[in-house]
Formats: sequence, C-alpha cells, structure tokens
Amino acid sequence: MLKGGFPRGRMILIRGSPGMGKTILCSQFLYQGLSQGEKSLFISLEESKEQLIREMYFVGMDFRQKEKDGLITFIDASPIRHIPGEVKLGDIRVGKRDFALVALAKKIKSIAAEKKPHRIAIDPLTALSIQYPNDSDLRLMVLDLIEALTQTGATCLMTEELNSTSRGIEEYSVHGVLHLRPLRAGSTTVKTIEISKMRECKHDDQPRLYNITDNGIVVHPEQNVLALLGRRDREQP
Ligand SMILES: Nc1ncnc2c1ncn2[C@@H]1O[C@H](COP(=O)(O)OP(=O)(O)OP(=O)(O)O)[C@@H](O)[C@H]1O
Ligand SMILES: [Mg+2]
Repeated sequence: MLKGGFPRGRMILIRGSPGMGKTILCSQFLYQGLSQGEKSLFISLEESKEQLIREMYFVGMDFRQKEKDGLITFIDASPIRHIPGEVKLGDIRVGKRDFALVALAKKIKSIAAEKKPHRIAIDPLTALSIQYPNDSDLRLMVLDLIEALTQTGATCLMTEELNSTSRGIEEYSVHGVLHLRPLRAGSTTVKTIEISKMRECKHDDQPRLYNITDNGIVVHPEQNVLALLGRRDREQP
C-alpha cells in the first residue's frame, strides 16, 4: 500500500478505535526493523513493559530476547497518565505533569543519543492528550514531543485512539496518517486500513482489508473493500 514503506525519519500517526490493532501494528513495524538489523525504541504510555512483551508474544513477536540482545529499548512512561496536572506546595502551584513531559522528552533524547534507534513507536499518544483539557496546551505538548522525536532522526509511529469525543492531533503536524476502522459488512464486521496522507509517497488511496492473526497483522491490498461490501449487501435478504 505504501509502495516501499514509510518514508525514513518521518512522523506517522496511526489512528483507530480500541482493539483495532494499533499496538500490534507499531510493534510489528519495530520487530520487522530488528530482523533487518535496525534498532528500536518503544515508548509505552499505557501498558507496562511486561504487559506489552506478553501481549506481543501471543501475536508472534519475542521482544524479550531482542531486548536482551540490546536491539530494542523500552521506556515505560505509563505512570505519566496518573500524574496530576498541578500539585500544591504551600501557596505555590507546580505543573507537575509538564515536568514529567519535559523529563520524558529528555529521556527520549538521551536514549536516542546512546542507542541510535532507527525506528521508534509511541503508543498511545491519547494517554497524554486526555490530560490536557485546554486545546492550545495540548497542541504545544504534541509539538514539543514531535520535535524531540524528529531530532532523533528515527522513523516514528505514534498511535491515537479516536472516538467521537476525543480531540485529535492536527494532521498537518505529522508526515503521514493511517486509519484503522471497523466496517459493517452484512452480518459481520471487517477491519480496514487506509492511508489518508503520506507525503513524498505515491500510496494506495483505497481502504484495504486486514486481519489480526497469531502472526500479527496481515493486510490484503489486492482486495477491494467497496466491491466486497457491495457483494455482501446484495447477499443480504
Ligand atoms: N492471535 C490473535 N488472533 C486474532 N486476533 C487477535 C489475536 N491477538 C489479538 N487479537 C486482536 O487484537 C486486538 C488487540 O490489538 P492491539 O492491542 O494492538 O489493539 P489496540 O488498537 O492497540 O487496542 P487498545 O485501544 O486497547 O490499545 C484484540 O482486540 C484482538 O481482537
Ligand atoms: Mg494499544
């Protein structure tokens, strides 16, 4: 669908509702890189490293060994979700959450300088955005993080859980955007993946079907989703 893969050194946003395979997709991107000799960094904002390694093991990826081999580094930033926006020290209010984010950006930079990862995943960014009720604060936070990630020179995938109430990251601030959507097809639901934007890339502009299997995500770029839907609809009584 991408006619050769994600453009190197760019920021790509993966949007999708819960359970659509966002974590699997970005893990698979890192894992594939590892098998080609490229190092990786996984920044988890929701799940602990142990949870993540365990879940990915069930879909065919053994990150534990890769970590032992020094090929992948995990940053477990999930505690950030629980940090209050402000803490009161006597009469002074301190923006504790912002300090935590500055610390995260610093950590990304220092690990990137030491390990030189080619690929980075940050999953899910939504865990941070719900902490910023103010839109302009959210925008600044996202831009700061994108800046820190861009400076690493790595190709970065970040995920975002999108539902009707969530405020998304502006698409202009990233290089590419992918959507993972469930689609009702007659009496069943199928999963579709669509590249809605990818600068520098003459990509497939159609939604395509994919499955999640014991070996991770398998995309079917040869199948036309709209034609399939038409056929299923006609099959309905
Ligand atoms: N072996 C498997 N075979 C088929 N489907 C699987 C398998 N393992 C996991 N899944 C599917 O993968 C989904 C989880 O994938 P993943 O954790 O990547 O989703 P996500 O979009 O990151 O979800 P969340 O929003 O909860 O973070 C499950 O909902 C399940 O439907
Ligand atoms: Mg996930």
